[in-house]
Amino acid sequence: MRKQLAALVFLLVFLLCGCGRNTELDDERLIRVGFSQLGSESDWRMANTESMTAALSEKNGFELLFDNAKQRQENQLLAIRNFIQQDVDYIVLAPIMESGWTDVLQEAKNAEIPVIIVDRQISSDEELYASWVGSDFRAEGDRAIQWLEQTIHQQGRDDEKLRILHIRGTDGATAQIGRTAALEDAVRENENWEIAATLPGEYTEAKSYELVRDFLKSDHRINVIYSENDNMTFGAIRALDEAGLSYGKDGDIIILSFDAVRDAMQLCLDGKINVCIECNPLHGPRVAELIQRIEAGEKPEKQTFVEEGLFSTDTLTEEVVNNREY
Ligand code: AHR
Repeated sequence: MRKQLAALVFLLVFLLCGCGRNTELDDERLIRVGFSQLGSESDWRMANTESMTAALSEKNGFELLFDNAKQRQENQLLAIRNFIQQDVDYIVLAPIMESGWTDVLQEAKNAEIPVIIVDRQISSDEELYASWVGSDFRAEGDRAIQWLEQTIHQQGRDDEKLRILHIRGTDGATAQIGRTAALEDAVRENENWEIAATLPGEYTEAKSYELVRDFLKSDHRINVIYSENDNMTFGAIRALDEAGLSYGKDGDIIILSFDAVRDAMQLCLDGKINVCIECNPLHGPRVAELIQRIEAGEKPEKQTFVEEGLFSTDTLTEEVVNNREY
């Protein structure tokens, strides 16, 4: 009897401690997701990675395999092939550029692993992926141009020559293609606008700083900086400061900056950046929801564009900046 009682007590303690937890079974219930992130080049990208890792967490039912490709497409291709080898349930891809994905996505399709594309788009056949979610980058560019045209008009400078310094993102990325196209179309339509130079800043602060610094050694006659992300703007501002040039609300050079991360918003509030064009990086919950819908047998829409806005130095408030999530 005493032995039976001891066995019962042992069993109870064992179960209450969770020692009987069948980890293999629990792990099986987690959805295994391989996420190929293109890099960590900007504040926007860090916010995006944080959003993805928080949403695809164990507590939300996921096992996340994360790979940072350090801004190299070949690393992304390698990561995806590793995910296929590991037979993950889903592959999520934040592609560095639009082209070059067809073969690897065909391999994922052959292995029956659904692929979700996030942030930038790809140029491969849509049959090769389940869904895409991200920004309308061309619309962001158009929003920026509309703001610039209105501002120039309000300042009574319609007939003035406008020399624009264009700091461009990574070539072939949807964000670069859309934002650049909006500027180039506007320059074609406004005969007294001209692109003083296009600098390939690759979305990084360091590269942009060097390029703008070197450009300013021979040319100070710019009226506008059109910077395709906030980090490149931070680099440009450092170069402008060193060159002793004034910019922003009360300065000589108008600055347009894409992303609207908190530090850029603060600079906008302080009058140093004229306008922040929003690009929303918080895709984690959206991707998690897409996966859950596929799990439930749904066929999600191929494309989902997120809503975005614009913040100008004239209307931005401290409250908006303080409540900024990223
Ligand atoms: O694809 C989104 C762009 O990529 C963001 O504008 C930029 O900051 C990031 O690196």
